Amino acid sequence: MGSEAQNNSSRILGIESSCDETAAAVVEDGERVLSSVVASQLDTHGRYGGVVPELASREHLRAIVPVVREALERAGCAHRELAAIAVTSGPGLVGSLLVGMTYAKALCFAWRLPLIAVNHIEGHIHAVRMEAAQRGEPVEYPALALVASGGHTHLFEVREGLTYRLLGKTRDDAAGEAYDKVAKLLGFGYPGGPVIDALAPYGNPDAVPFTLARMKGNALDFSFSGLKTAVLRWVRERDLEFEIQARRKLIRSHPRPTADQWLAVTPQTTLDLLASFQHTVIQELLRRAAASASQIGARSILVGGGVACNQGLRKAAAQMRLGVPVLFATPALSTDNAAMIAAAAFPKLVRKEFSDFTLRASAGLKLA
Ligand code: KG4
Ligand code: ZN
Repeated sequence: MGSEAQNNSSRILGIESSCDETAAAVVEDGERVLSSVVASQLDTHGRYGGVVPELASREHLRAIVPVVREALERAGCAHRELAAIAVTSGPGLVGSLLVGMTYAKALCFAWRLPLIAVNHIEGHIHAVRMEAAQRGEPVEYPALALVASGGHTHLFEVREGLTYRLLGKTRDDAAGEAYDKVAKLLGFGYPGGPVIDALAPYGNPDAVPFTLARMKGNALDFSFSGLKTAVLRWVRERDLEFEIQARRKLIRSHPRPTADQWLAVTPQTTLDLLASFQHTVIQELLRRAAASASQIGARSILVGGGVACNQGLRKAAAQMRLGVPVLFATPALSTDNAAMIAAAAFPKLVRKEFSDFTLRASAGLKLA
C-alpha cells in the first residue's frame, strides 16, 4: 500500500481481536514492548462455559477504541511516531477479527500508515522469540515451535528467515479446548486451563491411567477427543452431581475463586482425575514435540499459546532434558495479546510486506 509515513521509526502498533481478548500494543524493533494492553472478556463468557461469538464481537466493538488509545498513551507514542499498524487477519472468529481489522484499516487511512497483516499463530511464536531475545538468548534455528491454545495445537519447523513448515496438528480438539471442556463438564467454569493447572498438584497424576493417543498416518498429529471421552466416561460412572453443583454455586458467588475455595468443594478423587488428565495432556504435547524436534534436528524448542502458561508443562519440559533449550514466553505474552502481533510484523515491515485495504478476515488462515 502506498504510504507517506515512511519515517525512521520502527515502532509498530499491534491490534489483536481474533477471539475473546481485545488487545493493542506498541513494540519497537520487534523486541521492545513499550506497552501491551489486554481487555479480557472472561467475565462475559465465563458464565456460558465458553466463548459466545456474537457477544465477543460486541465486546470488541466496545473495547477497541479505548484499548488502542491506552496502548499509545502508555507507550508515550504519538501516531506520527509509528512506522506501521499490524493487525491479526486470522485464524479466529470472523466477527471478532473484523472489528480489529476495520479499526486498523481506518487508522491506517487516517494516519497514512502502512497496514501489516499477521497470522495469529505466527504471533504466538514471535512472543517466545521476542522474549528470548530480550533475555539475551536468541533463538537458534532450525527451531521447533509448539503452539497450543484454545483454538490450535500445531507443531512447526521454523527456519532461519522465519519460514514455517507444518509438522503436525490436532485432528480434533485443541489442547486448551480439552482443558476447557473437561472444566465445564466438572463445573469449574471457563477457561479451564488455569483452574486445572492450579489444582493438579493436589492430585495423584497416576491415579487414572488414561491411554495416550496412537495416530495412524502422521505420528506427529495430536488427538484429544479420546481423552475427553475417557474423562466423560469416568464422570458418568460416578455420582458427582453434588460436588458439581457446589462448584457452580461457588462461581456464581465468586467469579474467580481461589485455589483454596475450589479445594473446599473438590474431593480427592476429582483432584486425582484432574492431575491424571493434566499429566496425559503434557505427555501428549511433549512426546510429539520431542519427536519432531529430533526429526528436524532442532536447535531450540519454542512453546507458545495459552496452554504454554501451564506450570506442569513448564516443569515437565525442564525435566525432560531434551538436549536443546526449551523457550517459553512469560504467561502474559503466552495468552492472546497484541505485542506478539506487533513483534511478528517487524520482519514484514523490514521487507515492506504491506497489505492494502482489500485485506479480508480469514477464519481458517493457515501459517504453513
Ligand atoms: O492463546 P489463548 O489465549 O487463546 C487462543 O488463541 O485460543 O489460549 C487460551 C487457552 C484456553 O483454552 C485456556 O484454557 C488455556 O489457553 N490456558 C491454559 C492455561 N492458561 C490458559 N491451559 C492449561 N494450563 C494453563 N495454565
Ligand atoms: Zn491465541
